[in-house]
Amino acid sequence: MTFSRDDFPKDFLFGVATSAYQIEGHQFGGAGRSHWDDFAATPGNVVRGENGARACDHYHRMDEDLDILKAGNFDVYRFSTSWARVMPEGRGAVNAEGLDFYDRLVDGLLERGVKPAATLYHWELPSALQDVGGWRNRDIADWFADYTEVVMRRIGDRVWSAAPINEPWCVAWLSHFLGHHAPGLRDIRAATRAMHHVLLAHGRSIQAMRGLGMQNLGAVCNFEHAAPADGGEASGKAARLYDGIYNRWFLSAMFNKEYPAEVLEALLPHMPKGWEQDFEVIGAPVDWCGLNYYTRKLIAADDGPWPGLHEVEGPLPKTQMGWEIYPEGLEFFLKRTHEGYTRGLPLYVTENGMANADVLRAGEVQDPERSRYIEAHLAAVRRAIGAGVPVAGYYVWSLLDNYEWSLGYDKRFGLVHVDFQSLQRTPKASYHALARALAR
Ligand code: FCB
Repeated sequence: MTFSRDDFPKDFLFGVATSAYQIEGHQFGGAGRSHWDDFAATPGNVVRGENGARACDHYHRMDEDLDILKAGNFDVYRFSTSWARVMPEGRGAVNAEGLDFYDRLVDGLLERGVKPAATLYHWELPSALQDVGGWRNRDIADWFADYTEVVMRRIGDRVWSAAPINEPWCVAWLSHFLGHHAPGLRDIRAATRAMHHVLLAHGRSIQAMRGLGMQNLGAVCNFEHAAPADGGEASGKAARLYDGIYNRWFLSAMFNKEYPAEVLEALLPHMPKGWEQDFEVIGAPVDWCGLNYYTRKLIAADDGPWPGLHEVEGPLPKTQMGWEIYPEGLEFFLKRTHEGYTRGLPLYVTENGMANADVLRAGEVQDPERSRYIEAHLAAVRRAIGAGVPVAGYYVWSLLDNYEWSLGYDKRFGLVHVDFQSLQRTPKASYHALARALAR
């Protein structure tokens, strides 16, 4: 790696991120069914119909994984708790074994000197809640606040930071409008409801955690740099709309207590009753903001119904996901978030990394592409810091190769290779390079 800790502010934190359904093995430990189990069981939704039933078997290999984390010299670990593991029906009865698991995880991190950064929802909704409307139902804000309390009464005294929901855009738009993730809906009305309720649930969860006396609470959103595919006026407008739906809707609601006008105009007929009164909850003060960033998109206009746009393939080098590598976008979003929304709050890059067609050969994985990707994005972070943006930390996605949702187990994002037959872990060259750069 072409950097060391000295290139960053003194307290800058380096971490790695994972999520529950992608690594734990959802069939173990009394977890309830989730809408990702249902989505994956429906033909055509996921590559080879793969699901998170076993995943990386982190549920049984937690100690080994935490040792790997510790040996990588990371300061902080961003993990998620699974709603259906803790409350199999989403409401009511608590699965004691599930809570115990997260309790051991937090203690295991603290024993190793790693800060626990918890996220309460990283996409697997208990099926029982999907049955009653899931994110379309306004009551989800109350259910989520209750679940928040159940989890945080147990671990809230020891987590270093907490965030309610990972990537509201994916929860709402990707899953209810584009239909690519569970529950796989393609419905503007469902999507609009989800776009609002996910924010309301975020706010109620923050309030619940404040009520427990917790501090260092944040929000984690994802961002894709949207550039017009050509110089024409129509593409410029389409790119701006894409940016509004994807990058501004959530930040704008949480930090400025309003929705971007050009998006709201189209969604207005589908908004749930009384939405205008919800901004005090949605805008409940947070202590930091997390940005997940991977790529940019080139956008052009089309004649279809609103939003009337589509993606165009770009010319830049791409990752295994087919995503263009564009670190400048990260710098752009750090600056814009600071200037237009968070105004001085600490920012974290809560996810960044790349999938690569890594091959295990003679006990080693050479992944110079990943090291270069991380270096280039950390350089973008340094430029933002140089321009006065208070960036306080950076997390690589991900610690382990894992279940990449609808793309199954093919896309390898890990710093650590996982053989999905034997479940053997092998740290890749990028892991070793980071461990050296982060050594104290
Ligand atoms: C993010 C998700 C994470 C993983 C990465 C590649 O959007 O938060 O679970 O899928 O993308």
